[in-house]
Amino acid sequence: MDTQSTSHHPGGMPRLVTATRVASLVGPLVDRGDAPAYSRLADALRQVIADGRIPQGTRLPSERDLTGPVGLSRTTVTRAYAELREQGYVLTRRGSGSVARVPDVPGGRVDHLLAPSSLGDDGRVLDLTCTAQGAPSGLVEAYQRALEQLPTYLQGTGYYPSGLPALRERIAARFTARGLPTDADQVLVTAGALAAVATACGPLVGRRAPVLVESPTYPNVVAALQGAGARLVAHPLDHLTQDWDVPGLAAAVRASGARAAYLIPDFHNPTGALMDDGQRAEVARVLRGAGVVAVIDESLVDLSLEGQEMPGPLGAHLPTAVTVGSASKSLWGGLRVGWLRAPRGRVDEFASSRLRLDLGAPVMEQLVVTHLLDRYDEILAERRAHLREGRDALVAGLSRHLPDWRVRVPAGGMALWCALPSPGSTALAVAARSHGVVLAAGPAFAPAGGMDGWVRLPYSLPADQLAGVPERLAAAWDDVVRGRVRPGLAGARRIIA
Ligand SMILES: Cc1ncc(COP(=O)(O)O)c(C=O)c1O
Repeated sequence: MDTQSTSHHPGGMPRLVTATRVASLVGPLVDRGDAPAYSRLADALRQVIADGRIPQGTRLPSERDLTGPVGLSRTTVTRAYAELREQGYVLTRRGSGSVARVPDVPGGRVDHLLAPSSLGDDGRVLDLTCTAQGAPSGLVEAYQRALEQLPTYLQGTGYYPSGLPALRERIAARFTARGLPTDADQVLVTAGALAAVATACGPLVGRRAPVLVESPTYPNVVAALQGAGARLVAHPLDHLTQDWDVPGLAAAVRASGARAAYLIPDFHNPTGALMDDGQRAEVARVLRGAGVVAVIDESLVDLSLEGQEMPGPLGAHLPTAVTVGSASKSLWGGLRVGWLRAPRGRVDEFASSRLRLDLGAPVMEQLVVTHLLDRYDEILAERRAHLREGRDALVAGLSRHLPDWRVRVPAGGMALWCALPSPGSTALAVAARSHGVVLAAGPAFAPAGGMDGWVRLPYSLPADQLAGVPERLAAAWDDVVRGRVRPGLAGARRIIA
């Protein structure tokens, strides 16, 4: 975003975009076919609004001001704005001008599993069940570039069960640059990290096989491991520090005879904990000594929020480990692209396991991810700034409205893992619904039950929405404390991310 030609309010979001800036964003309209000029302008504007280059809520220049910079008549610009209004991309209110917006998804904002069901006092629901952000700016452009490249793929069958070579190269190069030397043929591109974990289960998880998992952990992997027949062995993270307890982990491995483990060392979901270098070496020593093969989930690894130097990959200490990653958290969940890095010598086993689940990720989305990786640093800077603002707004509000909740501020990731002053997370999730907040209660993250004294609060929504959450949660918690809640429905909710 060109900060010279936009003004910013204190939260950092651009609120105004100048006519010259709009003209440069839409580019030369002569390149856009021979549709009428108003329709070419409307198309171009729709694109830059849809992909976030003019963020939602930005005030657009008046129709009159735009005529000069785009070189079109007032009537033409007026028709373009009218078309955008009709399509839901521009909202015009008397006295406050025209504002860019993105229309609602037809049929609802999200899938039925995610759509929240109750409204708050102001008629809005804040869905805090999902650690995921909207798409980054420039996504539509990346699709356009992918579309331009698509013809070169059309002669082939379109089946790439291990992934597009160009993307596998990029992913391998990132591992290598982070200290885990990787060849492209060790990388399998999957439909997201969860699919990568499911692929890893094939060779690693036998019926009734004990598999070590952190407690708490990411619930959908618990379901995937159980679906593969695993018997879960919980390794509780330290109650106070939310850190890995290496002697405890060693004891759990010894007692259970586990030969596989699933770990999230980088901004763990739900706690946000980051395993430091020393712990990585120690955890690896324990696992290697006991012959445990680790599945290491790096889905959140690129979401450090303090500009800190990241520890090297845990997989660099564990030659037998499988490392999975994802475009979902740092790019966009809608791409459905993730990956698995197999150890040399076991690539074929994992490639065969994958074929039992599906036959590859879509070509278009793999091309899109390849293009987005060209701008990865820029996108990450944007993602991190958004998350940092969200985290800080939520933490500030909690310390004001719920000072007796214990909150450890994570150095990265997408959620706070809050200790409640007394158990009541399930009741809180029920109560929060009538205050317009949808929550996932602590027990959802507990592979061995319990954890009703904890609640996960994602901070991936925009900061201005999150700022209102603690007050609603305080009202809900008050309902819990005063016994005004009939527990019941909260457990029915499924978690996606
Ligand atoms: C630790 C972890 N692994 C995997 C996933 C799922 O990722 P994907 O969308 O790539 O399947 C998530 C999503 O929240 C996650 O937090």
